[in-house]
Amino acid sequence: MEKLVIKGNKPLTGEVNISGAKNAAVAVIPAALMVHGVVKIENVPNISDVKLLADLLRLLGAKVDFEDKNTLIIDSTEVDKYIASYDIVKEMRASYYLLGALLARFKRAEVPFPGGCNFGYRPIDQHVKGFEAMGAKVKIEHGVIKIEAENLKGCQIFLDVESVGATINLMLAATVADGITTIENAAKEPHVVDVANFLNAVGANVKGAGTDVIKIRGTSILKGGITHAIIPDQIEAGTFMIAAAATRGDVLVKNVIPKHMESLTAKLLEMNINVEENEDSIRVRGVERISKANIKTLPYPGFPTDLHPQTTVLLCLADGTSTITESVFDSRFGYVDELKRMGALIKVEGRMAVVEGIPSLTGAPVKALDLRAGAAVVIAALAAKGTSEIYNLKYIDRGYEDFEDKLRSLGADVVRVIE
Ligand code: EPZ
Repeated sequence: MEKLVIKGNKPLTGEVNISGAKNAAVAVIPAALMVHGVVKIENVPNISDVKLLADLLRLLGAKVDFEDKNTLIIDSTEVDKYIASYDIVKEMRASYYLLGALLARFKRAEVPFPGGCNFGYRPIDQHVKGFEAMGAKVKIEHGVIKIEAENLKGCQIFLDVESVGATINLMLAATVADGITTIENAAKEPHVVDVANFLNAVGANVKGAGTDVIKIRGTSILKGGITHAIIPDQIEAGTFMIAAAATRGDVLVKNVIPKHMESLTAKLLEMNINVEENEDSIRVRGVERISKANIKTLPYPGFPTDLHPQTTVLLCLADGTSTITESVFDSRFGYVDELKRMGALIKVEGRMAVVEGIPSLTGAPVKALDLRAGAAVVIAALAAKGTSEIYNLKYIDRGYEDFEDKLRSLGADVVRVIE
């Protein structure tokens, strides 16, 4: 069993380079399956989800090589299978993108129900609704989603929720549908735009990504011979910005797109924290007196749900009573019990957590319950007085490249111990 041992109460200071966006990479890599040829993907984060996807693509017949730890060469010319294996799919939610990619290539796909972080019910009804609107038949048998279509035809889809996964998955399938597909109430996250840019680079015709109406004109074939660089990870960037504020440190977060961070930047400024935006970096300097705040998570450009657990740590250290309301997922409050073990005063009422500010957290043995909850307990341990031990590191390794190395380079006292 592995654990992180963190001696807290040390301000983070220095510079940190943000890696490529996990939620863009886990969509672009499956999308490469639709391309008859070779694509090169740069700035891919070196995380376990990416390694799992590389194995998945190889099992489907693709050649996948790491030119270096952040550069993938994918040759899908020989891809000849449309059935994805359960033992890899069960590990990650993003495997649902195989549905859209394999459906586009083979007009068939069989993918077991995805696994991944469990915080509340995570349906895929909007994905199914869109595939059926394109003329596909979808059935679910023994935990496997089976889709087939005589042909995929362009159509109009109005999403009931601004689902990132459904928006991207339907964009993939629509790239080769006959005619024009319009996705309304589409998600606007930066990774949706990144996937659209990749698709257009291989010959697709996607317009409007980043707005709530995306139009895709189907094309017959998608060609290789391109290089695509994954955008910086807005959630990793936000995680380090919050860690700098929570430890009252001074950190320059590099290789970011400040526009993607706007909702967090605005909230940190509201909390009296110093934030300076540069061209492709953001400097965060913590303050002794953190002002309280009320936060509500929303689809992009609103406050990201994936920064909810991490931000609650900051609210624990603010003056007075703050609240954070989770409006994207049914329940994402599992992390609260772990923070309470560190002295946090938090009460969860429905979708809202009410947080009483305290002078400091105290170190304790805690566990990562999901990827972002794991990031939250790490931040709490870095700020806390005393030593903490963090278990279930597999969740953190899924989404953060070289997490403890980056923290150590900022002066954190953190070591990974194998028990
Ligand atoms: C993506 O998940 C991200 N994962 C999540 O990041 C992120 O929290 C989420 O988008 C929201 O930004 C990846 O990109 C791999 P959704 P996804 O479909 O696509 C409901 C992380 O930590 N919904 O936008 O699963 C759903 O239940 C992970 O990096 C339906 O009702 O999220 C949720 O309440 C965690 N029907 C809401 O929509 C559907 O068919 C948003 O889900 C699909 C979703």
